[in-house]
Amino acid sequence: MARVLVKDLTKRYGDVVAVDRLNLEVKDKEFVVLLGPSGCGKTTTLRSIAGLEDVTEGEIYIGDRLVNDLDPKQRNVAMVFQSYALYPHMTVFKNMSFPLENARIRKQEIARRVRETAELLQIENLLARKPSQLSGGQRQRVALGRALVREPTVFLMDEPLSNLDAKLRVHMRAELKKLQKDIGVTTIYVTHDQVEAMTMADRVALMDLGLLKQFATPQNVYSQPADVFVAGFVGSPPINMFDCDLADEGVLDAGEFRIPIPQPYRELVAKANTREFTLAIRPQDVVVQREPPAGDGGIETELYTTEPLGDVVILDLKVGDRLMKVVVSPNFDIEGTTRLWVRFPERKIHLFDRKTGWILH
Ligand SMILES: Nc1ncnc2c1ncn2[C@@H]1O[C@H](COP(=O)(O)OP(=O)(O)O)[C@@H](O)[C@H]1O
Ligand SMILES: [Mg+2]
Repeated sequence: MARVLVKDLTKRYGDVVAVDRLNLEVKDKEFVVLLGPSGCGKTTTLRSIAGLEDVTEGEIYIGDRLVNDLDPKQRNVAMVFQSYALYPHMTVFKNMSFPLENARIRKQEIARRVRETAELLQIENLLARKPSQLSGGQRQRVALGRALVREPTVFLMDEPLSNLDAKLRVHMRAELKKLQKDIGVTTIYVTHDQVEAMTMADRVALMDLGLLKQFATPQNVYSQPADVFVAGFVGSPPINMFDCDLADEGVLDAGEFRIPIPQPYRELVAKANTREFTLAIRPQDVVVQREPPAGDGGIETELYTTEPLGDVVILDLKVGDRLMKVVVSPNFDIEGTTRLWVRFPERKIHLFDRKTGWILH
């Protein structure tokens, strides 16, 4: 059983709070991705779990063991970094077996483990080569293999794909995900790339400025963002956001347009101790049409430009001085028109407290 439990972890470097009272429970065999912009504390969190940093406050458990005072070797974790230096003068076999030789494991056992791991990673036929004779993706596999032969209880990866070209990255994403499930090793993976996080993770932990903003499945993070940062970080094109104030008579006033408070939020807005909100809606959720909708709720916009992507088209629409993006099918007919009307389905609207950034709940 190798669950990882992080309790109230804080790491300060002088005045900089790199990680701020982080709580995280990673289940046995789970694939958790730490996602967030550069500098939000992902690497520091990972290094703290690995034992490469002394934590300022908090506790880290691996399995049922408190590991705060254990050094990295005793924790039995393996870590793969963005820049994985293979030993250039050693063969692939030697690169992979080297960490085991240091751990004084019997030769036969070493050979068995290297062979098995190489098979898993499909690099059996490369064992005799030197790193200079490998492609970028093959080198990355060897780096993974070198970590995996140690049969760690926890696998930590810090942006391991970011040095690969885009195509290979997409390929390795799927490979790594499959591999993780095949071996069933508890994994914590760091990236700033939302697509990588969403496609690979069982659960995503979103961090900003050292704080955990949301820890949930990719689907949940996308459809029920807990705060305005999460809403803006996940999803492509980015979610549309409008500042709006509570006007009288149950209406939200965004300046450029006014809409009735969405039904799911009526009570929450009434009992909120603010009148200032941020309304957000995904480009995929906006309904657009050529005619004004019957009744109220339609917002008139001007077609600013279109961005065809093949499978979908992004419409850039001007609402007053503001631009919003709407994703439509390539069949959507915009011939001969510059006026379009949009509507926000009530259940697709997200409403945040503008001061705290948290979703109304
Ligand atoms: N050794 C260090 N000394 C001082 N500040 C550091 C050190 N390592 C990281 N930091 C700071 O801590 C914060 C978090 O850094 P890091 O964990 O590397 O972020 P991420 O991996 O999400 O980009 C940043 O503000 C960074 O500048
Ligand atoms: Mg980092």
